[in-house]
Amino acid sequence: MPASLPHRHVRDPIESILGDLLEHGGVIVEEMIDGEVLARINTEVDPWVEAADPKMRHLNPALGFFFGDRTRHVGGVAGKSRTFATEMLCHPILLAVCDRILKPACARYQLNLAHVIDRGPGSDRQLLHRDELVWVHLPRPHPEVQIASMTALSEFTAELGATRIVPGSHRWPIERQPEPHEVADAEMPPGATAIYLGSTIHGAGANTTADRWRRGLHVSYVLGWLRTEENNYLATPPDVVRDLPRQAQELIGYAVHDAIADLGGYLGMLDLRDPVELLAEGRLGGAREGPVRSAEAARS
Ligand SMILES: [Fe+2]
Repeated sequence: MPASLPHRHVRDPIESILGDLLEHGGVIVEEMIDGEVLARINTEVDPWVEAADPKMRHLNPALGFFFGDRTRHVGGVAGKSRTFATEMLCHPILLAVCDRILKPACARYQLNLAHVIDRGPGSDRQLLHRDELVWVHLPRPHPEVQIASMTALSEFTAELGATRIVPGSHRWPIERQPEPHEVADAEMPPGATAIYLGSTIHGAGANTTADRWRRGLHVSYVLGWLRTEENNYLATPPDVVRDLPRQAQELIGYAVHDAIADLGGYLGMLDLRDPVELLAEGRLGGAREGPVRSAEAARS
């Protein structure tokens, strides 16, 4: 009997979704976004996906091997799709999951990366991995540091290369590798989301179709005091983030991480202020000019 993931519906009680996620390390939430939101996100990212080069030059050959050369990538989605930033980044289910799992270990959590992954025909299976290993220097054991999600922007079937997730692997010793029957295909219709923990083993499946692409939206959140995988300040600069709701600005990383109540300190200040406040005051973006010298001082 092959492994399978629990399925829930977006209107199920959050406790049942959280219970499945914590028990199995992953859960599929059906109808996470409705057809209209799905269509808008797809329309907004379409030009970026079309322009993406599957044979792009990656940071290094290891990353090129990991992603292969038949996948179109669009990073920084929060700065490219307003619908994503308002409807998905701040989705109540994703935030409830982060509140429960990440919040106890930080003063605020933040977006880690938002990435459209369009896997083309002939894409190979991705190496099974744990996302949290990007923070490899973190001593073990540690609390969950990351929550990941993959939303199907097109149909996810095994033959199209649905994400493969290993239920229960979040409890395994770090060296244990899954047997084939322990791997579940996250098959789901467009608009559904697979949510999984940073400690859960997973990887993209092989797209064995002749001519169909599999488009997914990978979104993850991380403790507010860890460096994010994507540089979200550059991906969504002040002139872009200014027009987004405050909650999105905070999640993208413009709010300070304020651990004063826990006898800690601030992270992410600018001129000893909270950047999200400076944004609200219209003092972020464009060139930052220094104070004008008085005429008297200039003469001396
Ligand atoms: Fe991953």
